[in-house]
Amino acid sequence: MKGIIIYKGKYGATRQYATWLAAALNIQAVMAGKETKSQLKDADYIIMGTSVYIGKLQLRRWVKYNQKQLANKKLFLYLVAGTPLSEKEKLQAYITTNISSEISTRCTCFFLPGRLVFKKLSWVDRCLLTMGAHLAKGRGENIVTADYNDVQREHLSDIIKMVRDLNKVPA
Ligand SMILES: Cc1cc2nc3c(=O)[nH]c(=O)nc-3n(C[C@H](O)[C@H](O)[C@H](O)COP(=O)(O)O)c2cc1C
Repeated sequence: MKGIIIYKGKYGATRQYATWLAAALNIQAVMAGKETKSQLKDADYIIMGTSVYIGKLQLRRWVKYNQKQLANKKLFLYLVAGTPLSEKEKLQAYITTNISSEISTRCTCFFLPGRLVFKKLSWVDRCLLTMGAHLAKGRGENIVTADYNDVQREHLSDIIKMVRDLNKVPA
């Protein structure tokens, strides 16, 4: 089966996972918007990768725009975020609030830990993060502003296994 990875992130975490996946599965990883029509058309399965900023998925517009092209394809989605993996409901809600149910219900979803290097953020993102954390505190929630990095290849073992199993199924 033919597959492609379409990803969108901002500071490299989502791209890093896409690069590892592409190497493990021997398929191409393309930044959202840079794919050709035939690359999408020819794919039997699509792995979509996105990070989240203030509750919004980086890939949400791409998914909406390409909704028709995604029909009849096997869909995977990996979400890279700062929210701890233990907060499954919150992570799941990012998907249901950003992606139409027609698509989200057909996606096999994976949640992957991200990376934050405060000094590398644009000043807009620094402000947004600081303000977001402040507002979240008022709601009794916690948004991490300190640096973290848990982007590791090992986190991809489930998705790699599932895609490899898919390839074993006779057409
Ligand atoms: C301004 C800003 C807003 C963020 N908002 C969220 C958020 O709403 N939820 C979340 O789980 N993580 C949030 N994060 C964390 C990012 O999703 C995380 O750093 C991710 O690894 C970024 O991946 P990327 O480098 O591929 O864009 C935010 C980070 C920044 C800088």
